[in-house]
Amino acid sequence: MSLESEIERRRTFGIISHPDAGKTTLTEKLLLFGGAIQEAGAVKSNKIKKGATSDFMEIERQRGISVATSVLAFEYQDVKINILDTPGHKDFAEDTFRTLTAVDSVIVVIDVAKGVEEQTVKLVEVCRMRNIPMIVFINKLDREGKDAFELLDEIEQKLGLTVTPMSFPIGMGYDFKGIYNIWEKNVNLFSGDSRKNIEETINIEDINTTELNDLIGDDFAENLREEIELVTEVYPPFNQKEYLNGNLQPVFFGSALNNFGVRELLDCFIEIAPTPKPKESDTRLVKPNEKDFSGFVFKIHANMDPKHRDRLAFIKIVSGTFNRNTPYLHVRNNKKMKFSSPNAFFAERKEIVDVSYPGDIVGLHDTGNFKIGDTLTQGEIMQYKGIPSFSPEHFKYINNADPMKSKQLAKGIDQLMDEGVAQLFVLELNGRKVIGTVGALQFEVIQYRLEHEYSAKCSYENLNVYKACWVDIVNSDKEELADFKRVKSRFLAKDKRGQLVFFADSSFTLQMTQSKYPNVKLHFVSEF
Ligand code: G4P
Repeated sequence: MSLESEIERRRTFGIISHPDAGKTTLTEKLLLFGGAIQEAGAVKSNKIKKGATSDFMEIERQRGISVATSVLAFEYQDVKINILDTPGHKDFAEDTFRTLTAVDSVIVVIDVAKGVEEQTVKLVEVCRMRNIPMIVFINKLDREGKDAFELLDEIEQKLGLTVTPMSFPIGMGYDFKGIYNIWEKNVNLFSGDSRKNIEETINIEDINTTELNDLIGDDFAENLREEIELVTEVYPPFNQKEYLNGNLQPVFFGSALNNFGVRELLDCFIEIAPTPKPKESDTRLVKPNEKDFSGFVFKIHANMDPKHRDRLAFIKIVSGTFNRNTPYLHVRNNKKMKFSSPNAFFAERKEIVDVSYPGDIVGLHDTGNFKIGDTLTQGEIMQYKGIPSFSPEHFKYINNADPMKSKQLAKGIDQLMDEGVAQLFVLELNGRKVIGTVGALQFEVIQYRLEHEYSAKCSYENLNVYKACWVDIVNSDKEELADFKRVKSRFLAKDKRGQLVFFADSSFTLQMTQSKYPNVKLHFVSEF
């Protein structure tokens, strides 16, 4: 098959949701359709369960699971689908943000009863900033929940989306009869009382046909007609271009647990979702169908076995074909590297592959050469952009608790930061090291991993910082910046790349600083 047709048949996406909305269940149902797994229950949730926050073995176990489910690839109707897993736990949000740099589209899962929740808001915001095409799946229709119109309103208001329903529920919870599929023009009925997995699809070309009354009863039929009329009046019709540009979001209703509405979602997804997209590098826009291979690291996962400190670097292929045992340029290190056992991921299996195409993810064994954001090419000198660090929200001084092991500690911290577990800052004032994280859980993970993987011990000391922001040296007013640096010298630090960072101890300080120095540009993401 030609490179063009391999690209054409690939869809790489992520499923995002607030924990418990049904991401794992939906993933599993999609894999069942693809025949990638044989039974329900095969996909392990990568959730960190409540109460497990101080149980290190549990954290480690969960990390293991998330390697296995990092990429779930399967084939459906000759389309190669790559699902990239995104941790739902808020302490790992940064991991999810980075994974979103490697997807070409997303499916957002929303619980019909809970509506739009906190994590969904944050994740959708990142997708919106990047114009990532999104499809919304409203889940758990077998339960009582919010009214469909109310929910669509909430999605528009809280998530800032423009929705277009592709299906519409007929009843809900106890009265849930099925779904009218606006996209395919048919009715899917839950049959029987059990409402389990039984699905009947009846094509209804014209919603006014009396056949609909026979199927769902007069009241439901009349109601549905009114609702669909309203849908057509209120919401814009589906337009693929608008969806692909991130301006319009199709919405599906269903119940992942009961496998209801999932096939419809998948069938529509493979038809409308984008194929691998071009990506901007620091020198030019790179197209997937270019002959030469290029890709970037969006995730690094440490090996589970503490005796072997090798890691798995996940590369998203942007252009060309990636071949086993072929030398590629690690641009940052200016070093050629060959990979004898690149892994591809198929549902829960890992396999060594000879060749991979744009949109695919390969896992490369790494002994410490890769950092998140690194670019690999066939020789061209360029760096992919767009893997930012986010402003951390928890801060602690990190101290060496075993003076004999300072080298191990330094190495451990260095590698954990490369993996993106947390961010390291060095205070300008006294050279002390500060760890900043998005979630509180990471401090425990770091301490545990330093001890078990690097034989180093650390202790923490509290530091009162509300937020760290990056100072834009280039675009700030020079005089104002000099004054800012002098007055705020006690609150300045450098990040790992040597960029200047300002530690604000409260939101009030931050506001005051911004109004006192309006021409000193502060950013909440490292890439600006
Ligand atoms: P997550 O990955 O987004 O965190 O959610 P997950 O799929 O684990 O689903 C969270 C809970 O919601 C699970 O129940 C799951 O069975 C349930 N669920 C998912 N889809 C549906 C649906 O369509 N209808 C209903 N009624 N429930 C659904 P749990 O009790 O927390 O877990 P489990 O013990 O069933 O695994």
